Amino acid sequence: MVHRSHFDAQRGLSAEACAAYARDGVLVLEDFVPQAQCLALQQRARQLVAEHAPRAPGTVFSTTDQRHAQDAYFAASARGIGAFFEAGAFDAQGQLCVPLERAINKLGHALHDLDPVFHAFSHGPRLQAVAEALGLVAPQLVQSMYIFKQPGIGGEVNCHQDATYLYTAPQSVVGFWFAIEDAHRGNGCLGGLPGAHRHGLKEVFRRQSDGALRLESLQAAMPWDMDSLEWLEVRQGTLIIFNGLFPHLSEPNHSAQSRHAYTLHAVSGQATYPASNWIQPSGVPFTGF
Ligand code: FE2
Repeated sequence: MVHRSHFDAQRGLSAEACAAYARDGVLVLEDFVPQAQCLALQQRARQLVAEHAPRAPGTVFSTTDQRHAQDAYFAASARGIGAFFEAGAFDAQGQLCVPLERAINKLGHALHDLDPVFHAFSHGPRLQAVAEALGLVAPQLVQSMYIFKQPGIGGEVNCHQDATYLYTAPQSVVGFWFAIEDAHRGNGCLGGLPGAHRHGLKEVFRRQSDGALRLESLQAAMPWDMDSLEWLEVRQGTLIIFNGLFPHLSEPNHSAQSRHAYTLHAVSGQATYPASNWIQPSGVPFTGF
């Protein structure tokens, strides 16, 4: 079972919690975020959707022009703020079939640097203390996402490792996953494979010599033992921290309840951050906590 603990500002993380994180590649800290703060982030996310969704490339159907517009929008969101639709928000004709505020899958990927509300939430001594206790040296924040997992249409996320998308040498990325609402089996909570981070990285998403971003297999034959899958049902305000090599997934949300989460990814400032990663600190430099 994944270890569940609490963060104490005076004493920091317990030795037991740190050992569990090293063993499992994941740690659950309950009651990390007060309810009022969760509600403030929800409210701000709604405002950002109203601001950004009308300009987001609209449809999941791929004429070449739409594909290019979507690729350019995705690239600009690396150090900007973009809104991305749920695939299930469109009908067979490519028309939105849910209200705009229920149609967005996520906001990303530099909320933590560019939006004042998310900036304030993402920086500070508490997160810095947690990151350092878990062995992250000179943390640099490289990515943030607000994930809506909309009722009825929230899409499935296949089993993956976050280090695939944020590669460093040596591997250093740590994910901070904040439950902004209760997350359970019914609304598509996280699931993961405790201990499987020790088997290394399966694939990497990086810019190739032709300039295109593609997934590249590093260990094609590496199996993930899905029998060891553990569901991480958590209450609002819980922080789940995981190693960039921790394989994780979530199921579709067919329930009438959304499952909002905010994620933040940090890497070590002492690791090599390659120019082939899709997110580059050009224009807007990376910041620490
Ligand atoms: Fe992930």
